[in-house]
Amino acid sequence: MATCLFSAPAAFLPAFLFLMSSVCFAPEVATAMHAGITRHYKFNIRLQNVTRLCHTKSMVTVNGKFPGPRIVAREGDRVLIKVVNHVSNNITIHWHGIRQLQSGWADGPAYVTQCPIQSGQTYVYNYTIIGQRGTLWWHAHVSWLRASVYGPIVIFPKHNVPYPFPKPDKEVPIMFGEWWNADPEAVISQALQTGGGPNVSDAYTINGFPGPLYNCSAHETYKLKVKPGKTYLLRIINSALNDDLFFSIANHTLTIVEADASYVKPFQTDILFITPGQTTNVLLKTKPLSHNATTFFMTARPYFTGQGTFDNSTVAGVLQYENDSSNITNLPLPTLPPINGTSFVANFTSKFRSLANSQYPANVPQTVDKHFFFTVGLGTHPCPKNQTCQGPNNSSKFAASINNISLVLPTTAFLQAYFFGKSNGVYTTDFPVTPLMPFNYTGTPPNNTIVTNGTKLVVLPYNTTVELVMQDTSILGAESHPLHLHGFNFFIVGQGFGNFDAKNDPAKFNLVDPVERNTVGVPSGGWVAIRFLADNPGVWFMHCHFDVHLSWGLRMAWVVLDGKLPSQKLPPPPADLPKC
Ligand code: C2O
Repeated sequence: MATCLFSAPAAFLPAFLFLMSSVCFAPEVATAMHAGITRHYKFNIRLQNVTRLCHTKSMVTVNGKFPGPRIVAREGDRVLIKVVNHVSNNITIHWHGIRQLQSGWADGPAYVTQCPIQSGQTYVYNYTIIGQRGTLWWHAHVSWLRASVYGPIVIFPKHNVPYPFPKPDKEVPIMFGEWWNADPEAVISQALQTGGGPNVSDAYTINGFPGPLYNCSAHETYKLKVKPGKTYLLRIINSALNDDLFFSIANHTLTIVEADASYVKPFQTDILFITPGQTTNVLLKTKPLSHNATTFFMTARPYFTGQGTFDNSTVAGVLQYENDSSNITNLPLPTLPPINGTSFVANFTSKFRSLANSQYPANVPQTVDKHFFFTVGLGTHPCPKNQTCQGPNNSSKFAASINNISLVLPTTAFLQAYFFGKSNGVYTTDFPVTPLMPFNYTGTPPNNTIVTNGTKLVVLPYNTTVELVMQDTSILGAESHPLHLHGFNFFIVGQGFGNFDAKNDPAKFNLVDPVERNTVGVPSGGWVAIRFLADNPGVWFMHCHFDVHLSWGLRMAWVVLDGKLPSQKLPPPPADLPKC
């Protein structure tokens, strides 16, 4: 990996990139020019044997690492990642939360912005990080490959721009994940075949390690070694496939300072709640020297309100003060909310507020051009003739939908079809603005739970302000759904339980300092309202970040048209964009 400062005016960047790649200039030059540098990474997608819980398996990884390597950049930098596929699986990489302004070709969801990179092929993801700093992450975006193909994206502020909180002594990524003894690709393909719920994971992991609460796992424990009296910045990422998580460190308090690469008004908590797809930076102040600083457990376990089975286990790591060698077998575990701790979740999520000051304003759309109301939840497909199914009542297949439509992905990519004016036969633009058949969404579910398949998108003119209310349904069980929007940050202006009340709820919206995120948990048995400005031309996926719901069809996409100015248009695709 080569990193090099680049001081030429931005307009000359592409032409000089390769010529200059071995020449580095002084950092002050780059700062003076307000130009970021270009950072080069190489991701070799290859198989690697990994052992956890006494099971060794060959898995798809980036550069043989599990979790994968870190991308480190500064706000304003350009990042070039050359992905070379050495495995037989198709692969794409998504840079989760990166806005991809005018660079939608680098976003990564398979069949949405690109065809997958086939075995033996290469694709260079090329984007600039604009107006974001904090923690994001990258992951495979095809089938369930992200189970082993994921890693952190660390974005530092521009040179000489301080954090709006005390400077940490050290920064550490904390990635939660899930471990399957089986091959997750086999798990999801079997589930889609039978229509039943997929097998659940065998363990959760912290930075790849399940920890001592699992059989045959004590030696696979994540250890964070700390010094007393210091401040650590934990860059926390939930990369689990299918589970919201609670997290806590025994006898320590965390100060939350950032969410999804946007600063928030700091607040303290002993317990953190995080959905798949979300990231959050927290400050951890270690105990003073005088204190009996020893070793403490940190644990994470799921929040779950659905009806199916889930991995009800606990991952543990340790926070170990220097020179301590306590035996970790008899340490007290931190207290976490109950598995179905919905009130904790609602209370915790309501504490997030944008910093909303002059340096980091919250640009909440104050007026709305287009209103949308989407139901999100589960449903069924009828069992095909001559097949037995293991979905609901053993006579159907599980499905999931938005406004009762399960998005069927094309065999080409939406973005290519859109850009080259070949959408005919690939998608239609009549995705419903509200449910076609309204019902009591959180009441007794309707008898007919069948969802329809469709490939309908929403088209938005450039700079449309959007308000979207997402309503959970009780069909096959109310459940929280972490909805992730590609290409944008949105503001979470309101949330509540039961059915959204279009008359009275909007009056309570926070249009002053709502938190800005890319992933929001739609409350179990409730709704959430978000607003965003459609200022990024391209095709942008929106989906539940539970991979099981994503696979079942809880997904849709927005087509955002070009604006008039050159800076408001999507440029043509790079020459190496993979072909289907
Ligand atoms: Cu983190 Cu569409 O994904």
